[in-house]
Amino acid sequence: MAYKTITVEVEDHVATIRLDRPDALNALNAALMGELAQALGEADANDKVRCVLLTGSEKAFAAGADVKEMAEKGFADVFKGDMFGAEVRAILAIRKPIVAAVSGYCLGGGCELAMLCDVVIAGDDAKFGQPEITLGIIAGLGGTQRLPRAVGKAKAMDMHLTGRFMTAEEAERANLVSRVVPAKDLAREARAVAGKIADRSLLAAMAAKEAVNRAFETTLAEGVLFERRLFQSLFATEDQKEGMAAFLEKREPQFRDR
Ligand code: HXC
Repeated sequence: MAYKTITVEVEDHVATIRLDRPDALNALNAALMGELAQALGEADANDKVRCVLLTGSEKAFAAGADVKEMAEKGFADVFKGDMFGAEVRAILAIRKPIVAAVSGYCLGGGCELAMLCDVVIAGDDAKFGQPEITLGIIAGLGGTQRLPRAVGKAKAMDMHLTGRFMTAEEAERANLVSRVVPAKDLAREARAVAGKIADRSLLAAMAAKEAVNRAFETTLAEGVLFERRLFQSLFATEDQKEGMAAFLEKREPQFRDR
């Protein structure tokens, strides 16, 4: 499938999706969001893929929703069109792990997109923010809900009300990102993380993703019960037999996603 606003490459069980609108700092327009949702769906359905790596350019992961595309819209347009609602639901439906590699600007919808990913590796030059307030709007892809869950109310309010940017170091301290690495090493380090995930059992990785995400949607008791059932069900897989046999035989496991 030929895309215009992203590139996709599958190598060694990792699908690397790169946002590719360099002239607009990867601003999220309708074309890009549609292509991204489609590429993620294809990666999820592709048996050769065990992990997705989502990245942008050195200058920007994404500088937010495309202001040029939004500026003239009225309430009826964004309400009836449900701007990016279907795309966000499609991204949330992806069951394989998604690693985000973030360099440069990660703002507005870009920051919200990073928060939809499972692991976020940031270069030490990354800048995170929810500057929608400076445009007379608020976040619309879940940022008012996911940012406080990640960083707490006080810092989330600071970000959403002032529109200031956070450095990568602050973002790591605040638990918005998983790890910070030197910007020059970001591509290699993030690829290594995705590769390590891709070496694991996909069945267990999908179960882990589903279980951790459930923590944000349910009570502790229900979440723990959900985890126990998934934990127990993994004992029905060949990968569990292989993983434990490999440990006992002191060799690397060969997972077959069965
Ligand atoms: C459209 C954008 C853009 C955006 C940058 N560009 N961000 N175009 N939408 N969000 C374009 C600029 O217009 C410019 O193109 C080119 O990218 C380079 O940007 P500059 O501003 O010249 O670069 P710089 O001076 O380095 O400043 C970088 C920046 C700034 C700080 C990131 O571009 C910026 O503040 N961007 C907007 C960030 C923002 O407010 N995001 C939130 C959007 S609302 P031209 O052609 O002019 O040279 C949102 C809502 C999500 O995300 C919810 C949706 C439902």
